Amino acid sequence: MSQSPTLEAARRRTFAIISHPDAGKTTLTENLLLAGGAIRAAGQVRARGENRRTRSDWMKIERERGISVSASVMTFDHEGLMFNLLDTPGHEDFSEDTYRTLTAADAAVMVLDAAKGIEPQTLKLFEVCRLRDIPIVTFINKMDREAQDPIELLDEIASKLALDPAPLFWPAGSGGRFKGMLDLRSQQFLPFAKRTADNKDEGHPEALGLADGAISRFLDPTELTELEEGALLIQEASKPFNPAAFLEGHMTPVFFGSALRHFGIDQLLAGLGAYAPPPKSVLAHKSGAEIHVEPGESEVSGFVFKVQANMDPNHRDRIAFLRLCSGRFQRGMKLKVQNTGRQISVNAPIMFFASDRELAEEAFAGDVIGIPNHGVLRVGDSLSEAGLLRFAGLPNFAPEILQRVRVKDPLKAKHLKKALEGLAEEGVTQLFRPQMGSDFIVGAVGQLQFEVMADRLANEYQLDVLFEPSPFAEARWIGGAPSEVEAFVDTHKSAMATDIDNQAVFLAKSAWEIGYVSERYDNLSFQRTRERG
Ligand code: G4P
Repeated sequence: MSQSPTLEAARRRTFAIISHPDAGKTTLTENLLLAGGAIRAAGQVRARGENRRTRSDWMKIERERGISVSASVMTFDHEGLMFNLLDTPGHEDFSEDTYRTLTAADAAVMVLDAAKGIEPQTLKLFEVCRLRDIPIVTFINKMDREAQDPIELLDEIASKLALDPAPLFWPAGSGGRFKGMLDLRSQQFLPFAKRTADNKDEGHPEALGLADGAISRFLDPTELTELEEGALLIQEASKPFNPAAFLEGHMTPVFFGSALRHFGIDQLLAGLGAYAPPPKSVLAHKSGAEIHVEPGESEVSGFVFKVQANMDPNHRDRIAFLRLCSGRFQRGMKLKVQNTGRQISVNAPIMFFASDRELAEEAFAGDVIGIPNHGVLRVGDSLSEAGLLRFAGLPNFAPEILQRVRVKDPLKAKHLKKALEGLAEEGVTQLFRPQMGSDFIVGAVGQLQFEVMADRLANEYQLDVLFEPSPFAEARWIGGAPSEVEAFVDTHKSAMATDIDNQAVFLAKSAWEIGYVSERYDNLSFQRTRERG
């Protein structure tokens, strides 16, 4: 059966979850997969993760720290829609990977802990979503615990994020007094059932109208009045939900619930199905011209937003995660990498269903396929059948920490170079080769990246390395006319380096120095991000 790429793309919902650590991202992921029928019991996401790690014994650090360092994707088919949930690493220190994953998402669910509201990491990730025009759905989690006043939570969204919150539900109490929530559109009340005395979870009762006599089983008269008044007040005080404003990034629909108790999850999933956008057209360059690639176009195209190496230590393979932008991909197809012109036969593409990996026979815009390869594919690569498309916008971020790296055994210097290049291609850390001196400088957004790196160098490459402070504090990519960039490079040799793509990078000892050179060389730009590919 031949499917239309336009129709197939229209039923895709590719989204990521953003949150501050501990707000409940993992629990919500699990419960969304449960609601979508992708897994049968909660606890499987973690168990499966553990299994995978024990089997392949990679990323020991992940296990020791109990955090998810590597992002993956999970796909499930639910009520006629195909959901692709991109799993973003949640540690506040390790964010570059998360940023890149967000380039592959069409929408994001922002999870807030109802007691804490907007936390620093939420804000940082939100800013990336805004930069990339990714619409945000808000899920206020942990309503079964003592929460802040929901009106204050909405105020915080409005003031800190400059986003209009449009609640679609309204909670009745929180913590021990949490009774459920009112669906503001249907005016149906969804009762929340506590666990039984012997800690059993028996699910939540059916929704019912507020005028239904049976409501007294869930709300006493005071609680009912409070809920009715609260709901009325909030509907008067907030703008009604407007899907167009949401897609433009001015408004966020707000859901409430308890991920742990699987409450509000079906509603969130239905909301994503109804309002989250299908893949849209993507800006690309083709033979020097800017074009929009439509999901329904016949040519298959996509970009690599993540590369994961050594998932299985017996094979030195890497998996490149390709977000498809157009066409109907079929297994065995040949795709060309735009910047190298290399052609690859995609014979064993993988799709990641929650229960297992499967060979992908076909895939459409919005889907993510894993392509095993031996280092041919890199983060930021654009792939298409003719190999002429280059997608814009996969950034490298200016590192916040720069360190010199040395291998303890000097005979292994050459080996180190290869290993560092491999990790930089994967996007684990950034690598700079100073024009003068022989040491490599590695850059990262957070300290944890260095630990991940040291761990991987030791386990995968048998290299024992030392990190030492470098004299540099900031790195900037230089933009401008080639002759002017060259002139600058010539006069600043001791502060110049190149990145893995041989682009000129200025290394400064302080932020002040960046300000100083930018003023003196106003014909050049000193950029915090560089778009690859
Ligand atoms: P994260 O991925 O965002 O870091 O958060 P995660 O889901 O791991 O949740 C962090 C903690 O919050 C976990 O407790 C989890 O059980 C709890 N939690 C998540 N959602 C809810 C909720 O809706 N209600 C309540 N009451 N708790 C919630 P933990 O004790 O740190 O871990 P665990 O031992 O339960 O796994």
